[in-house]
This record gives sequence, structure tokens and C-alpha cells, in this order.
Amino acid sequence: MTGGQERVDGWDKVTGRARYAGDHAVGRAVTAVPVRSTVARGRIVRVDDGEALRQAGVLAVITPDNAPRLAEVHDAELMLFQNHRIAYRGQFVAAVVATSRQAATAAARLVRVAYEQSCHEVRLSADHHRLYEPEHLNEGRPAGTSSGDFAGAFDAAPVRVDETYRTPAVCNNPLETHATCASWDNGRLTLIDSTQGPNTVQNVLAALFRLRTDHVRVICEHVGGAFGAKGAPRANTVLAAMAALVVGRPVTCSFTRRDMFAVAGHRSPTIQRVRLGAHPDGRLIALAHDAVAHTSTLRRFAEQTAAAARHMYAAPHRATSHRLAALDVPSPSWMRAPGYCPGMFALESAMDELAVRTGVDPVDLRLRNDTSVHPETGQLFSSRNLAACLRSGARLFAWAGRNPAPRSGRRGHWLVGTGVAASTYTADVAPSDAAVSVSVDGRYSVSIAAVDVGTGARTMLRSVAARELGVPASAVEIRIGDSCLPRAVVAGGSMGTSSWSWAVIAACRDLRRRVRERGGVVPVTGLTARARTDAEVAALADRARFSFGAQFAEVRVDADTMEIRVPRLLGVFAVGKVLAPALARSQFVGAMTMGLSMALCEEAVTDPCSGDYAQHELATYHIATHADVQDVQASWIEEEEHHLGPSGAKGLGEIGIVGTAAAIANAVYHATGVRVRDLPVRPASLL
Ligand code: MOS
Repeated sequence: MTGGQERVDGWDKVTGRARYAGDHAVGRAVTAVPVRSTVARGRIVRVDDGEALRQAGVLAVITPDNAPRLAEVHDAELMLFQNHRIAYRGQFVAAVVATSRQAATAAARLVRVAYEQSCHEVRLSADHHRLYEPEHLNEGRPAGTSSGDFAGAFDAAPVRVDETYRTPAVCNNPLETHATCASWDNGRLTLIDSTQGPNTVQNVLAALFRLRTDHVRVICEHVGGAFGAKGAPRANTVLAAMAALVVGRPVTCSFTRRDMFAVAGHRSPTIQRVRLGAHPDGRLIALAHDAVAHTSTLRRFAEQTAAAARHMYAAPHRATSHRLAALDVPSPSWMRAPGYCPGMFALESAMDELAVRTGVDPVDLRLRNDTSVHPETGQLFSSRNLAACLRSGARLFAWAGRNPAPRSGRRGHWLVGTGVAASTYTADVAPSDAAVSVSVDGRYSVSIAAVDVGTGARTMLRSVAARELGVPASAVEIRIGDSCLPRAVVAGGSMGTSSWSWAVIAACRDLRRRVRERGGVVPVTGLTARARTDAEVAALADRARFSFGAQFAEVRVDADTMEIRVPRLLGVFAVGKVLAPALARSQFVGAMTMGLSMALCEEAVTDPCSGDYAQHELATYHIATHADVQDVQASWIEEEEHHLGPSGAKGLGEIGIVGTAAAIANAVYHATGVRVRDLPVRPASLL
């Protein structure tokens, strides 16, 4: 239930009627299965497809020697089989198309690829010779910033923290792996795709195959999770379209769980140095955050790891920097709260170290360093309620009276500790279009190329439209998940809700006006209103736009084995107006659970010999299970947001993961007296 409303698609999902991309087999669809590189760097010398082609059911083997030529797009990961270069182990080097998945998989093992292998480098280090400063970060923000005199002020500061924190590569693993069913009809391409953005896939595939945009249609009715991995098309989509072109039949291509670890994108590992210089009362004088991450040699992916440090806390002297090493690894990509999530692990761990060094309570320390203007730019915030989240969280968690001494809490053989960390994420909005129709019998239909990636977007949009139209939700039908519908921004960057609802509200208002103009009479042919928000979004006031939150954790550590349990997590968030409380709670709790997983379990390790990840499936890549997840509570404060469109909503899908790992690591310090600066926190880290 969602605040008294059922999920629009809940019954379809729980009864198995909802069809996901991999469930579709259009007409006589056949299957494409990739052959993946067994070397991490080098060149393909020869592909021998003879034996594979002789297998029953095999229709084609696509190789760099026979693949259709694609037009160049900026993401070289999508330029499948266009050259002989190997950029990472696991890269697609060929593909088999066959009448069944089994036949294609078996034949793929028979494709012999000869390589000329070069030395590879897959391990990030803070002094890697390939490090460079990118021109800018992914979102266009500068790679480095500075104001005041950081070096001088830090040197002179009475209290200093100077520590380095590390986060490992972590891999997106939505329940539904990437899947596409592609078919061509008279030079037009239709894709049933598991994606966060049908318009993005449409644009990129049109460019790759040199098609008119309106000759590509992308349908994504249901998507089983994404977390950023489906924010842009991946190799499966290109392979399905290419294979369908080659064999002249519809083709499905879906990633196996093993494929996910190689080609679905991952969160880059980071090495982060944080320096804090403060007065003895904890007020910051100098703050610097320097981040190192990797990218691939195919694509420059410059994550905004130190970006949160630019706006979290007041300090007159400050600096941030980002450097990247292009290694022989798969291209990293978006993963829930890109940049901010690993970045805030470092900053909020360092703040805890400052609290210990100054003897100031960690909640109080953050309150003392709160700021009402952006500390680098001087901009006003669209709304900023970090302090309210910290105070509300402290109350709900019963933080007051905490004994700050490490190892001061003990229950039986458990060492008990508590920790806090702040959260933040961007609150953005992007132009979208929407159409709303009313029929003569009073049924409303809302159309927008939005996507429900499992968040409940359909339900949220229905409730927004019903409220605006002044009709019961049951009178409103929501049509999303199709690039033919009015153009919309991706379900990503925590900006789907703010962006889509703006267009939907504008269209609803226009429709009501039209109906009023006709004296309340709807013609037999019905009425439609359309809206686009480009001008309004461009005219938004110049404000720093972020959401904020506070996370509290209680941990218990077995005094003998150092086993770590997390009996309690509490998050309080300020995300503008919450449009659908049950859906919001589910996003927060899900993200905090993912943060718990990041804190204690998740890690993809590169093997320097093979160049491959040591983990390829969920047996060796550990994630939090039900038994690990205990009491997770999320709440929010009432926040007025007037600078992000008429719904007043900031996005909330990502902020819930930001700060969770720091709160847990800080609680582990409180419980044990051991500061762990490398994630994940393991029993071995505490021995
Ligand atoms: Mo989110 S990682 O921007 O889909």
C-alpha cells in the first residue's frame, strides 16, 4: 500500500503478469550470446568461427571481421566489434546468434579467438603513473576547486585530521539483468529494453545505426531494478540490434549474472585524502578533499567523489580535487548516488575523527559547521535542512547522553557502539514533456516517456495527476515506458519525480483550463493538453540545490570473533515534499540497506595477474542478506522547496545510501576503538 493507495502495477507484478524485457520473444526471436575476451589488454589476431558455425541451430557468428559498421558515439563501450583492440578482460569480442540460448551459449565456447596480449594494469594506486586531472567531472562540474588559502590555514590550524580512505569497486546487481529484444521492420528498429531512459536509448541507437530518431522505438514497460546501470544503453542493446540486422529476425540478448560484473558498469574504486583543520571547539578553518578513481581506456568516466565536500560544511579555506587513472578495466558507470556515496564515506568518517580529536559530540560538530550559503559560491540553497535532520534523528535514535568513549558499551560478549553521518545528494530537475487527455466519459490518461524501475513511478504519477485534476486516482490511467510517448528525462540522478511531475502538473493545469473554457463540457472526441518544461527549467532561480539527511547506526561487534552486526539503522531526510510516503520509505530503506551492504560486504577485487575481477556472481560477491538487515527506519522532515518546480519534491532515490557506510564505520570505531578507513569493514579489519 502507498499511503492508502495500491501500487498501480502491484497485482501484475505479484501475479507474474507483468512482462520484463527478457520475457518478450517477438515473433520468431532468436538469441545472441557474447564471446568475452580472456585477456585484459591487447589485440584480436584471429577469430576462428568454423566449428561454432557448424553447430545445430547456429545462425551467425559476429566478429570484428564481419560486423556491420556503426557510426561513432562517445561511449566506446557501445562500438561493438568495430576494431581489434582489447581494453579489458571480459569485453565482448564476438557473438553467436542461434535459435536457442543453449545452442548459442554452447557454440560461443567453440569460437576460438587468438590474441596478441600486452601488459595490463588494473590496480589503482594514489601515485599511479597513469593519473591525470580530467578537464571536468561527468556532470560538467570542475575537477578542482579552491577558495581562501587552504595550505596555510591547514598548517596553522590547532586541530588537524589528515587521513586517507579507500572504497573498493562495487558492482550494480539489479534483480533483473540487462535484457533487450530487438526487431527490424523496413529499416525501423524496435527495442524492448530494460532501461532507465527510453529516450536516451532511442537517441544513442539511432546515432549508432544512422537512423532517424523517430525510426527507433524503445519500450520498457517494466524494469526490475537498475541503480544507474541502465541509465544509458549497454552492450546487450547494441548486440541485440546488430544481431537482428545480421540474421533478419528478432533477437533477444540478456546479460547473465557473470556478464553483469564485466560489462554492466560498476562504481569505481576510490582513494580519498581528507584534511580537516579546526578550532578546538570543532569549527572548521580548512577543509580539503582529494579523490582518486579509475576509469577505462575506452571511456573517461569522471565521478564527482569530492563534490559533496564543496557544499556540506562552512570553512573559509577549502579545496577539492579529482584525478583519474585510465586502467585496463571495464568502464565504470553510474551506481546509486554516484560520487556522493563513496565521497561521503570519506568526509563523514573524517568528521567523526575530528569529533574524537576535539571531544565535540559528532552531532553537535556537524551542527556547528552548518552553513546557510554555499561555502564555495556564496549561492543561497533552494532549501537546506541538514540541521533539522540531525536534530530529529538524534531525538528518534535517543542519541543524547551517549558516552563518547570507545569500547564503553558492552552487552554480554558484544561490544556496542553508535555512529552518525550526514547525507546529501543533488536535487536536480530536467526538461520533460507530458500529455493529458480526458474522454467524454471522464477518464483521464497521462502520457510521458518516464520509466518505473521498481520505484513506483506509475503510482506516484497517478497520484500527482489525480490531485491536480481533482479526480479520484481510479479515473487516471498512466502510460509510461515507451519512447513514443512525450519525451522525458531518465529515471536517474534523483530527478525523475521532480522533472516528470512538473510536466504532468503543467499538462493537467492546461487541460483543466481548456475544459473550463468549454463550460465544463468535454467534446465527444475528448480533449488533450500537452506541456513542455524547457523554458521553466531554464528560468529556475540560481540556487544551490541539494537534499540532505542524517544517518544513525548502532553496531554490535563480537568481542572474540569481531563479527559485526547492525541491529539499528535510522535515517532522517529532507527531500522537499514527499509525494507518496510508502514509496518514499521504500526507497530510503532500500538505499540504506544497500549502504549497509557497502559498509560490510560489497567488494569487487581485481586480480592483477588475469586482470579480471575475482568475483563474478553473487556467491562470491557478497551483499547483505535478510539475516543481515535488522531494524532499518527511515523518516523525513516537512520541508518547503520552492525552487524545483510545482510539485515541491526533491528526488529521493539515491540520498538514502549516502552516509550509511560512514555511520556504520563510525559506530564500529565507537564499539571497538578501531578506525577502519578501507571498505568493506570486515572482522579481520578489527583484529
Ligand atoms: Mo542513478 S545512479 O543516477 O540512476
